[in-house]
Amino acid sequence: MSTRPDSNSSTANQNIPNGAHSAVGVVLDTAYQSIDASEWEKLFTQARSAKLEQFIADMFAGKHINQSEDRPALHSALRNLTKSPVLVNGEDVMPAVTEVWRRIEALCNKWAGITDVIHIGIGGSDFGPRLAIEALSHVPGIESRGMRMHFLSNIDTAELARILARAQPNSTRVMIVSKSFTTLETMMNAKAVVSWFKENGCTKSQIAHSLFAVTANVLAAQEFGVEDDNIYPFWDWVGGRYSVWSAVGLPIALQYGFNTFRNFLSGAHAMDLHFQSARLEENLPVIMALTLFCQQEKHQIKSYAVIPYADALDGFPKWLQQLDMESNGKSVDRYGKPVKHSSPVVFGSAGSNAQHSYFQLLHQGTEVIPIDFIAVRKPMSERPEALAHHRILLSNCLAQAQALANGKDDANPNNVYPGKRPSNLLMLPELNAFYLGALLALYENRAASLGVLWNINSFDQPGVEYGKVLAKPIEQALLGSQHNIQASDSIDAVTAARINFLNSNQ
Ligand code: F6P
Repeated sequence: MSTRPDSNSSTANQNIPNGAHSAVGVVLDTAYQSIDASEWEKLFTQARSAKLEQFIADMFAGKHINQSEDRPALHSALRNLTKSPVLVNGEDVMPAVTEVWRRIEALCNKWAGITDVIHIGIGGSDFGPRLAIEALSHVPGIESRGMRMHFLSNIDTAELARILARAQPNSTRVMIVSKSFTTLETMMNAKAVVSWFKENGCTKSQIAHSLFAVTANVLAAQEFGVEDDNIYPFWDWVGGRYSVWSAVGLPIALQYGFNTFRNFLSGAHAMDLHFQSARLEENLPVIMALTLFCQQEKHQIKSYAVIPYADALDGFPKWLQQLDMESNGKSVDRYGKPVKHSSPVVFGSAGSNAQHSYFQLLHQGTEVIPIDFIAVRKPMSERPEALAHHRILLSNCLAQAQALANGKDDANPNNVYPGKRPSNLLMLPELNAFYLGALLALYENRAASLGVLWNINSFDQPGVEYGKVLAKPIEQALLGSQHNIQASDSIDAVTAARINFLNSNQ
């Protein structure tokens, strides 16, 4: 077992495990990381030489930390409930942010008679609200309008068909959510839903009334036919994967009420304040980043797992995959030089289900895969069995961490557990909008900290563009049903043969 960064007296008061840390009620226990005191000291020194403290200050101050796109990364302003000025190129953005909150609240107040909301968006315009809607639906006693909240992201029409078969055209509202308002999947799905309204006899003005847009490209939304009053803007200084705090999170407010949305922002804001003000030695996002950084140096790890012992958070690893891998899955640093390390592969799903899937490999596989266990102290239902089940759930979580850390010897090699498999344990007091917000912001700030340790720009995503460019000529060939495509500059021989096969079998 390891020592941890400075145990502080404020945390000792809360009966939290010795050496664990807490911020805004979230407790982080790194005991099973096997990092000793001198290693911790070295890690904090490394973080300081990477100028992490300066970076944090620059990020919140609106400096252009996203160098390649020459802009700030200011999603923190979207949850800045204290409304303290946040300057982008000398201008305070808080009045514009506050105005969007006012409009969201006004919309919630007049929202009536709606049976279905179709939220069309992909990637960062989908994962966050999808996770929040699902997670909060499990909160015992939460107020909910109980609308059918459909998330339409994939271009595959299976999802579209399933949703349209259930939605009622006259009482459906459609949110077209896209920072760029050019994303292929989103625009094609939006057009398909407009056609569905028409097929169902809705008039032009009914359709216009039913369409909403959340975007940083207001002009494109207007051109699409969304009425000005139904367009909720956000800004180029908000990365798509960091956008759930903007009007992208509108479904949260519409389904659970504006106060719940505000609590969600408030949990994230509280975590931001902690990230900005706590010493590195007590700073949860930083400590979490350093545990991964350290294990990567020690074990050359290629992947890590996140296992929330809460069914409500089953979607959390999906949200996190985009956050971590789109932010930090890169081979070159801020200056274009090759990096030694960057984001490992992230995977995970809810425990205890996960134990019956890939935990065999986590315990006995050849690779060391660090794990973040997430536990929620309160049960997630009001069933009479809730407490008993919850204790079993938590005991499984604790047992897995212990088995992974300590291992077990046996005369039979098949039954040997090597141990020394590091993990963190994050404990939330309960799962509600506040702690969900705090959890997401914790991981966002952890990703930014890792970016600094690896010297990576965590706020661009150039690697997603090339495939989109190559899809264009392939799309033309498939749409044209050609089956004698020859290899060319844009389509190589392998892909040409595949196109010919797919077209010949239609
Ligand atoms: O393909 C990557 C990406 O650009 C993500 O970064 C983004 O979250 C997603 O596409 C959707 O983009 P948009 O919100 O502009 O539709």
